[in-house]
Formats: sequence, C-alpha cells, structure tokens
Amino acid sequence: MANFSPFRVKAHPLSNVKKVIAVCSGKGGVGKSLTTALLAINARRAGKKVAIIDADVTGPSIPKIFGLSGMIKASEDAMFPAVTESGIEVISLNLMTDDPSAPVIWRGPVISGLIKQFWTDVAYGDIDELYIDMPPGPGDVPLTVFQSLPVDAIVTVTSPQDLVSLIVEKSVRMAQMMEIPLLGVVHNMSYYACPHCGEKLYPFGQAHLGKLSQYGIEVEDELPIDPSLASLCDAGLLERYEGDYLQAIGKAISEFEVKHVVEKEEEPQEQK
Ligand SMILES: Nc1ncnc2c1ncn2[C@@H]1O[C@H](COP(=O)(O)OP(=O)(O)OP(=O)(O)O)[C@@H](O)[C@H]1O
Ligand SMILES: [Mg+2]
Repeated sequence: MANFSPFRVKAHPLSNVKKVIAVCSGKGGVGKSLTTALLAINARRAGKKVAIIDADVTGPSIPKIFGLSGMIKASEDAMFPAVTESGIEVISLNLMTDDPSAPVIWRGPVISGLIKQFWTDVAYGDIDELYIDMPPGPGDVPLTVFQSLPVDAIVTVTSPQDLVSLIVEKSVRMAQMMEIPLLGVVHNMSYYACPHCGEKLYPFGQAHLGKLSQYGIEVEDELPIDPSLASLCDAGLLERYEGDYLQAIGKAISEFEVKHVVEKEEEPQEQK
C-alpha cells in the first residue's frame, strides 16, 4: 500500500471514498478555496459523486462559496455533510457552530482532532472524488491531513506574486516526504481575457507556464483573473459559473490511478 502512515485514522463505515485530493498553497489568499470549489463543481458536472472537506478550520470559506449555512445533520453514529445545489457534499466547521462569525481560537491539537473527526465521524456515502481545501502553507493542519487521511494526490495553487519555483520546489519536497504524488500546479490569476476580443493578456508575464517539468510536474493549468468568479463566490452561487476552467487538472485527477486502501471502522451491527 502506498503512502501508509501509522497515524492513519479509519473512515466512517458508511463512507466509500475512492479518491482524495488535497488542494494546497505556499501562502494564503492565492485561490485555493476557489480552485477546490471549481474542481468539485467541474467533477460534479461530469456526473461524479463529489465531496469537499473544508480543512481551513480557522478561515473556512467553502460554505460561503456554495451559499451554505445552518447546521449539518447528525445522528448518534454519524454526521452527515451539507449538500449544495448541484449535489456536492460539504463538511466544514462553519456548518457545525451556532455562530459561524465567531473566531476559532483553538490550539493545534484540538483542530487536528477535528480534522480527524471529519474523516472518522462523517458518513459520506459513495464518493468518486473528495477534495480537501487546505489552510495555507505548512503547519499542524496540513501535517494532520497528510498523516491521518488517505490523501492520494496534491494539487498546488500559485499566484503571480509567488516565487513559483520556490513554492513548487517546497511542494515537491513536501509531497516526497509525505509520499503523496504532486499531481499538478494551478497558476491562478495568470491572465485576463479581453472582454471585447477574448485575447489572453498576461499582466504578470507568461513566464511560468510549461516550465515545471524540471520538477517532475506534468500538469500545469491556468485560472484567469475573472471578476465573475469573485462575485459568484461572494453571492454563494459559484455553481452557476459558465466557464470550463481547470479542465487539464480535472482530467489528470480523473485519470489518476489510486493506490490507497481505505481503512474503515467495523460495520455497525444494525444499520438504519
Ligand atoms: N482567478 C480569480 N479571479 C477572480 N477572483 C479570484 C481569483 N482567484 C481568487 N479570487 C478571489 O480572491 C479571493 C481569495 O481567493 P481564495 O479564497 O480562493 O484564496 P485562498 O487561497 O483559499 O485563501 P486563504 O489562504 O485565505 O484560504 C476570493 O475572494 C476569490 O474569489
Ligand atoms: Mg481558502
């Protein structure tokens, strides 16, 4: 079995998740949550069963992007994810508290415990692709996710302000240390399409695209600066976006062969 970790926690017996993709970045605000949401939306549009874990516990934004609020349902044996308009399952701390605007001032171990519960206590049912929206950079939470959850692949998001090669080098090395493949890189805000003629304008230069094969990265994708994406996120209506961004990364995720074996808790004796 690849990427085995002695810290791995078991999935809920009512979960059958085939593929787990973590969306990471070197720093904050580069478009991880938007990328996570778009990849999930595209996969759902392609007919897949999709879920998102919002692992950015102290700065959750997935519920807002999908216009979700209120509390998720729970029974004695399980928590059940919220479901978006198009049928994407979402789990986030923001959907488990009375007051989502209250700051989460928790120590690392408490947050790590919660992340594990997102896997062990949540009944996802059958899922083809589960995306994890990570908090920025390295730290307690990413380490917990990589060690405790059966992550199959990592997608790294960079922005034009990043020193792309440095971020990518760090991502490559982290992926190697965790024994999880780095599937691809998304260059966010890399271009702007002229609203009149559609020409791609590269305000920060076209320097980076296609140059990461030296790091063993085969898939690079671009996400343009698209004001409609930002306003749809703000309105909680991203599922209504009309583009077809991130197809290259989506295809790589779809075609990627999974090597993990999901460990599960014992089936409960009586199932409802
Ligand atoms: N390509 C883009 N076009 C338009 N707006 C964008 C684009 N990428 C990101 N944004 C906007 O920039 C803001 C930050 O993006 P996002 O929340 O996805 O970043 P993040 O990396 O998840 O941030 P954090 O580290 O805080 O979690 C959001 O308001 C988002 O809608
Ligand atoms: Mg985010």
